[in-house]
Parts: sequence; C-alpha cells; structure tokens
Amino acid sequence: MREKFWRDLLPIAELEQNDVTPAKYGTLDLAVYDTTDGIFVSLAKCSHQGANLCHGYFDGKYIECPLHQGLFDARTGEPKASPATRKLIMLESRIHKGVIQIFR
Ligand code: FES
Repeated sequence: MREKFWRDLLPIAELEQNDVTPAKYGTLDLAVYDTTDGIFVSLAKCSHQGANLCHGYFDGKYIECPLHQGLFDARTGEPKASPATRKLIMLESRIHKGVIQIFR
C-alpha cells in the first residue's frame, strides 16, 4: 500500500471566499469548501448521480447539487435532503504555510 503524505492542493489566496472552489489533484476533481467552520474538501462528484458539486449552491455549510438538488453537509459529507442518500467522499485537509493540503 502506498504511504500517505500531506500534498499541496491550492494556495489559500486562490480560494473563493465563503464559496466552493474547484480543484484538481491528479485525475481527481475536488471541491474545496470555505465553510463557516473552516475549510473542507470532498470529491466534486455528487454521490447520487455524479454531477459536479462545484456548480451547486453553497451557503457556507451546505452544498446543494445542481442536478437534482440533493443536499449535503460540506463539513462532514452527510446527505441532508433527498435524493442524496450516500455520504460524499471527504478528504482530510489542513492549511500549511498558506497552502491547502490534502492527506493522500
Ligand atoms: S446528481 Fe446530485 S442529487 Fe442527483
């Protein structure tokens, strides 16, 4: 199994404040949420039918999918409204020297 490390994702200066920012790590499309409780990262792909959550409506805590309006808590990935029933895949993240990093 490959060892995990903290890996640079995005300078904090490039983050859309109080919003969701798309980011790429290798082939992964990620969504970086600037929430009222800090920064959180998930796969951008909705767990319902795969829409890109970066195009959804974000209110600082919850992300609403642009395709069928499923709702997720951006801090935990928990589904909060139908048709979303499965958690988002979240990535452990931190800020280090002005850069958002993910643990992978
Ligand atoms: S694809 Fe996101 S709720 Fe259906």
